[in-house]
Order: sequence, then C-alpha cells, then structure tokens
Amino acid sequence: MKRIAILTSGGDAPGMNAVIRAITRAGIALDLEVYGVRGGFKGLYDNEIFKLGRKSVSEKLNRGGTFLQSARFPEFMNDDVVKVAADNLRKHNIENIIVIGGDGSFKGAMSLSRFDIKVIGIPATIDNDIASTDFTVGFDTAVNTAVEAIDRIRDTSNSHKRCSIIEVMGRDCGDIALHSGVATGAEAIYVDGESFTYDSVCKVVEEAQANYKKHALIIIAENICNVIDLAEYVEKKTQYTTRSTILGHVQRGGTPSAFDRYLASNFGAYAIKLILEDTYNVALGTNGANLFYTPIKDAVEMKNNDKEYFFKAAELLK
Ligand code: F6P
Repeated sequence: MKRIAILTSGGDAPGMNAVIRAITRAGIALDLEVYGVRGGFKGLYDNEIFKLGRKSVSEKLNRGGTFLQSARFPEFMNDDVVKVAADNLRKHNIENIIVIGGDGSFKGAMSLSRFDIKVIGIPATIDNDIASTDFTVGFDTAVNTAVEAIDRIRDTSNSHKRCSIIEVMGRDCGDIALHSGVATGAEAIYVDGESFTYDSVCKVVEEAQANYKKHALIIIAENICNVIDLAEYVEKKTQYTTRSTILGHVQRGGTPSAFDRYLASNFGAYAIKLILEDTYNVALGTNGANLFYTPIKDAVEMKNNDKEYFFKAAELLK
C-alpha cells in the first residue's frame, strides 16, 4: 500500500486542520496509508512521524491552528538537514509528502524534492502571499477576524470622534490590509512604504476633519512603521485624539470560515487525486472557481499580482 505524509509548516492558519482531515479521509478512502509529521520540518528532521487513521481527524474540521503543530525551522535551508529528513521518510517507506504552508514551506518542500521525495504544496497562510493561487487557506478567516475587530474599534472611535490607526498582519503582502480596509470603509490603507509618510497620514486625517467625519480609520500593514509613534505624531499635528491598535496574532487563530473549510477540503482531496496520478513537485492553487496546479519551483518565484486598480477604487470610496 502506498504511503504518504502530511506536514504543516511556518505560521499556522485557520483551515490547516481541515486540509489534514481532507487528505487523511480521501487518502484512506482511496487505499493510501497516511502519516502525519509532528512539528513541521523540525519534526521531520527529528523523525516525529506517526500513522493517521480516520478517527485521528475527527472533530478537526472546524478547529483553528494545526493539530500536527508547526514550527519555524531555518536550519532546513541546510542540505545536510534536508537529507536527514528525506531519509526519515524513506525509513517509513514514504515517497510522497504534502506540505501545507506558505512560501517558506514551499521552499522547504522543494529542498526535499532534490532528495527524491515527491512533494505537493498546499497554500495555507493568512498572508495570501503565494502568487500561484488567488486564495490561500486561512486568508478569508483572518480578514473576517480583522474586520470584526476593526468594526469594534470603529464604534468607539466614532463615539469619541477619534482617529484610530490599526496595524494588521501580512508579512510583506498587503492583502489583509487591503481587504479589511475596504470592508470597513477605512480613510486610508497603507500596504508598503511607497506612498507612506507620517505627514501623508496627517493629511488624510485633516481631510476627514474637513469633511466633518466623526472618525478617521487608518489601516496599515505590518513592517511599515511604528504605529504607536505614528499615533502620537498624528495627535500632535491634527485635532483628532489618536489611538493605535496592533491586531497581531489574534488574526491567526479562531475557527475557519466556511470559505476556508471548503477550500481546504477541496485542496486536500485534489492533492490525493494528483498523487494517484503520479503528479508531483507542484503547488496547488485556485481562482475561486477551479483548482489547478503549478510546478512548485515556478510557484515560489512568481510575483504577486498588481493590485493598483483595487487601491484606486478604495480611494473613491472613502
Ligand atoms: O506568515 C504569517 C504571519 O502571521 C505573518 O503575517 C507575520 O508576519 C508572521 O507570521 C509572524 O510570525 P511569528 O508568529 O513567528 O512571529
């Protein structure tokens, strides 16, 4: 019986459990033996490999996080470490592994492929920063979490006629900021340093004031500035009392949205179909309607789509 392994890696994302469940259930239904790796690439290196049954994935579909656990493991860039991990899979007679994670995890999967392990990457990260798919598992849930939090901040901001500066996650990708900013009617959305200065934020806030707005909502992707300093600056320069909030890891947890559960379940079943067809070294993707795959080496090199149109539209709506 053919044996496959599943591993979750990098920052966890809501819906990872749903992917693991789908792979396990579809794999067993189609006569594969399914193994889980505990703790990402670090666990693979440490030979933390165990068999999964149908029951191992009961009650997991709606749970946030990853029950296989995840880890950041930069040591996996070293080929000696990758070889140990590949040999551990061979010791269990496993020739295929499905890696669930973001671009760093896909790079880890590619390293394994160089040691003759057949890999499939399933995109799962709240950042939505994998260009070979329009949606990653976890992104929709994270945006909904951010929107719920921002709506709450908006209520209190409005009552006190304040400016609220909110930092959202996304690493180098502005998709959480863009989507949550549009969905909450933000006065400004900043996703990179390009158009951003402290004074550009003050200008937006002053415009809001001139338009008799009861609040000003500014959404900023992480790694652009220190939002605590920015809030102090804006308060000094404008007449709005200003507060900053860093949403942080609250965006990574929680029960996955219906969209993420659906996507996760279908990615999982699709990965099994590809394994049975002996298709490998690919990353899965979706355009919302269809599933497809891209060679994983191309997936990690692709650049994200230009979102200029959506930023221009957001400007018109504020
Ligand atoms: O990749 C997911 C993510 O949450 C990013 O948005 C963020 O930059 C990073 O992980 C935080 O990583 P850590 O939890 O290791 O601090």
